[in-house]
Amino acid sequence: MSGAQVLPASRPIRGTASVPSDKAISHRGAILGALARGTTVVRRFSGADDCGSTLGALRALGAGVERDGETVRIDGWGARGPAVADAVVECGRSGTTMRLLCGALAGFAVSATLSGDPQLRARPMERVAEPLRLMGAEVATAEGGRPPIRLTGAALRGIDYALPMASAQVKSAVLLAGLRADGPTTIVEPSATRDHTERLLRAMGATIESGRDADGRPCISVEPSSLGAVEVIVPADPSSAAPLLVAAALVPGSDLRIRDVGLNPTRAGLLAALIRMGARVEVDDPGSGAPEPAGMVRIESRPLRGIAVGAAEVPAMIDELPLLGLLGTQAEGTTDVRGAEELRVKESDRIAVLVKGLRDLGADIEELPDGFVVRGPAPLRGGEVDAAGDHRMAMAFAVAGLIASGPVRVRGMESVGDSFPGFLDALEGLR
Ligand code: S3P
Repeated sequence: MSGAQVLPASRPIRGTASVPSDKAISHRGAILGALARGTTVVRRFSGADDCGSTLGALRALGAGVERDGETVRIDGWGARGPAVADAVVECGRSGTTMRLLCGALAGFAVSATLSGDPQLRARPMERVAEPLRLMGAEVATAEGGRPPIRLTGAALRGIDYALPMASAQVKSAVLLAGLRADGPTTIVEPSATRDHTERLLRAMGATIESGRDADGRPCISVEPSSLGAVEVIVPADPSSAAPLLVAAALVPGSDLRIRDVGLNPTRAGLLAALIRMGARVEVDDPGSGAPEPAGMVRIESRPLRGIAVGAAEVPAMIDELPLLGLLGTQAEGTTDVRGAEELRVKESDRIAVLVKGLRDLGADIEELPDGFVVRGPAPLRGGEVDAAGDHRMAMAFAVAGLIASGPVRVRGMESVGDSFPGFLDALEGLR
């Protein structure tokens, strides 16, 4: 297993950085582009390996996909549906590719087998299979509800569906299937998750409404709709900005700016948490940004205090919670994260991997079934940690290396390519 060594920071992190384009919005630009009539142009398409998996999958289904640098053109199949009647679709390590494509295909007369790398083949897929079956598609998962998925599309019925977990991927799959249903499809969420799919569907002409149900739960309704091609300009990924922002929050004297960061409130939980912990955060006026707001983010380090995060706040920082755990090691008092059991079914069991890794570096962190409790501040020492092949864990541990008393060796560092190719160079460039 390859690894990388990160040395303690010898000076503050200062300057202005750019980070890769948003992965979630890039996936959606391409997949919704395939469902639309005409040619969708996605500018600043993410160079992450996961988004490459989406383009490869769409090609396998017969969509026209042209990539020229950061510009991707998708010649959509529109109401005709995929050109390939029975496709084998490789999704690499990308859960978003697999889950959104299940929803996108469910209403067409096609069959597909969706599979991927061993890491993806360990992840739960019944969560998308179940609602799509209720809508009328044939969906079979393999042992334990995992990939490969065998899907045969059908004429779908609209459903009312209460999501059992807060998952934007499952919500998105049901919404995409709902475009081809015979009536409205309504989804109720336990807590609001990222709304990139809803924003883009609206921009492409779908009839879709978001609000709250009678019990105050987030609720989205989509009518059967056809989509028209649009131009999508992808902002920088807040989840890729996050490790650099946390590095600057942790290294004393730092003052860092990151350009054009996506500021969708359903993704901005870490910024809110950093402010509550005491970091100085400034955001330039994002305006209304259609369909996605973006702006410059500036962070200056300050002494940090611990905070509590509960289930309602988890989705807006789901991929940043390992970094919050790291922040907690240097904050005064207790940082307490609960209602985050979804972390256990990401690219790794992020609760277990975080607790083991930070403990190996000397942190005081306790594992909970649905989160963790960190007591700080505790000095971190150098050592070796295992990111378990998970890009977000690798980045969090690399940032830990900046504030440890000795070098930190991160096993599984190569996984950063899944979302942030060149991450270590970007980090080195700032120190
Ligand atoms: C994503 C949603 C989240 C997130 C993942 C990307 C998306 O997953 O963790 O990295 O693009 O919709 P879940 O929907 O499984 O929570």
